[in-house]
Amino acid sequence: MMNSESAIGIFDSGIGGLTVLKEVSRILPHENIIYLGDTARVPYGIRSPETVTRYSFECTGFLLKQNIKLLVVACNTVSAISLQRIRESVSIPVIGVIQPGARAAVSSTKNKKIGIIGTETTIKSNAYVNAIKSLDRSIEVFGLPCPLFVPLVEEGWTDGAIAQLVAEKYLKGIADKGADTLVLGCTHYPLLRAVIQDVMRGVHLIDSAVETAKVVRDMLPSADHTGSAGMTRTRRFFVTDSPGKFIAVGGSFLQEEIKNIEKIELP
Ligand code: DGL
Repeated sequence: MMNSESAIGIFDSGIGGLTVLKEVSRILPHENIIYLGDTARVPYGIRSPETVTRYSFECTGFLLKQNIKLLVVACNTVSAISLQRIRESVSIPVIGVIQPGARAAVSSTKNKKIGIIGTETTIKSNAYVNAIKSLDRSIEVFGLPCPLFVPLVEEGWTDGAIAQLVAEKYLKGIADKGADTLVLGCTHYPLLRAVIQDVMRGVHLIDSAVETAKVVRDMLPSADHTGSAGMTRTRRFFVTDSPGKFIAVGGSFLQEEIKNIEKIELP
């Protein structure tokens, strides 16, 4: 039976969703969390919508079997392509990352120009453009895919000369458009925040992980926010490949040792 001590399920193609896990853990420190990274099949962002949908249903199915009480799709690509279908297929609340990021971007922009960076599939889907335009039609939106950012992050190369050069090459085009707000429209990208901010000086960066965590908090009954006395939080991690790399790169990002981790195969 599902109850308030049931876990929140979070999934992404790889370690990017840890940006969401970190924020959820920060604002809901008593919640049990189960994280799934589909590391055998990362990146999702270069795949077709059909393939992304199939993968996302497999991840969802696995987490549902863990008796989760709420599902966070911590992947912009999946949120852009199959969030609605996932929502229709399950009986628990499902939270994606695009709507919260779009809302934060709209409240941040002063000059009504917003840049979006994300995977090819996310940008091609126009999900951010639609979400932003539905809030304010007068805003100009510039989308740019940055496909090399995900492998850089999975490799742990989040600073230094290579990350800096890649960021400069990609972001020059978007900097020239004069947007005052840039959405990090892929959950991997906040790990590159320092180099992105260095190139996009003076531009407000929107981290959808932070915004999504607030939505998760608002969806849960307030009794869950504080947890019951003596309750200790558990966190379990599942990956579909290379747990060692996940422990190294993910642990360094979370700044803690990832212990409770298991390699699984998705059906
Ligand atoms: N972190 C994911 C996203 O937010 C997916 C990156 C990928 O696997 O390409 O889109």
